[in-house]
Amino acid sequence: AAAPADSVVITADRMIDVVTGKVIERPVIVAAKGRIVSVVGEGTSRPVIPAGARRIDLPGRTLVPGLIDMHVHLTSNPKYGGYSRYQFTDSFWTAQGVGNAERTLRAGFTTVRNVGSDDYADVGIKQAIEEGWVTGPRIVPAAYALGATGGHCDETFLPPSYAKKSPAVGDSPEELRRRVREQRKYGAEIIKACATGGVFSRNTEPGVQQLSLDELKAIADEAHFWKLKAAAHAHGADGIRAAIEAGFDTIEHVSFIDDAGIKAAKAKGTFLGFDIYNTEYTLSEGEKNGVLPENIEKERRVGTIQRENFRKAAQAGARMIFSTDAGIYPHGDNARQFAVMVRYGLTPLQAIRAATSNAAEALGRSQDVGAIAVGRHADIVAVEGDPLTDIRTLEKPVAVIKGGEVVAGAVAP
Ligand code: ARG
Repeated sequence: AAAPADSVVITADRMIDVVTGKVIERPVIVAAKGRIVSVVGEGTSRPVIPAGARRIDLPGRTLVPGLIDMHVHLTSNPKYGGYSRYQFTDSFWTAQGVGNAERTLRAGFTTVRNVGSDDYADVGIKQAIEEGWVTGPRIVPAAYALGATGGHCDETFLPPSYAKKSPAVGDSPEELRRRVREQRKYGAEIIKACATGGVFSRNTEPGVQQLSLDELKAIADEAHFWKLKAAAHAHGADGIRAAIEAGFDTIEHVSFIDDAGIKAAKAKGTFLGFDIYNTEYTLSEGEKNGVLPENIEKERRVGTIQRENFRKAAQAGARMIFSTDAGIYPHGDNARQFAVMVRYGLTPLQAIRAATSNAAEALGRSQDVGAIAVGRHADIVAVEGDPLTDIRTLEKPVAVIKGGEVVAGAVAP
């Protein structure tokens, strides 16, 4: 059959079908115009290979879907903690964010949700990637994160004479509805809000709620009204429960979740994104990166409990997404969180689903990403060995394919 010039055939030894949980031997995947048109394995009907199709043969490799990190900050950089970040001009953050985007893609993350950046930088980086000027993952941008005056998502480091406030701060349901509309107007495809204090802000407590139930409801309702999903930063148990009740689609950090919170998340189908990799990085590198002692001290109070609660939520069968908060630790190391998720109670398949099929569902993008399946983007990662027995193979992808193009890694001719 005559093939469009943009047809591609991808072969490997094995493929993990995250939808069925089965391993497919000797998969042959055909894609056209960047989307998958057929997937067949050994022993099933022979695939129709369009004549003239490009080939990407990955003998000996195992394929998994392109990975999705639901919580990154491409414009943040862990090297510049505390006040050291003020040494740079504003556009520095966007410029180095471009490099972070490429690093993230090369690590196997073909889609990321960027849950907060200044200057609409995530929207700009996304546009530059889509126009082909720079290389990076598919980005679902939140632009500015919403929050309360003086809350975790406001500017909390500067004295009154340097008065600077985040343009996404609001202090009533009405103001916050307007903030949702403003972020969407300028490119946000997901709305992020800070429901509680956090670790890396000043004068906030992770355990303390910062937006009222009415404010949270206004944000989630307005986001949904515009057909956007809503993500809540929430460490404290009260803020977590309020954000679930308000209808947020994903809860991020989730550190101090209690039994009622786990029950509510399960009942509502709310996805939980625990960032349980970054603690060691902060505790070992934070001080030399300029992170203030008070922030390191908060990390000490959060990290261990968060992991114990991850285990509890995993055992209870809560729906998990892969959320790492890259930017707190170096971009590109995202896959290191898989091993921690397995250590704290997920099976390797569950951990992979958190970063593929579950993430896609939480994005409302199951028709696009999150599985090697007909109709979805041909976003595929090849690894050496079997990630279902050694999850750490995901830390070193040997090839990364985005939209049917090899974007990283050596490939046999
Ligand atoms: N952005 C989050 C905050 O500042 C990071 C929390 C990191 N710590 C952790 N244990 N997950 O609150």
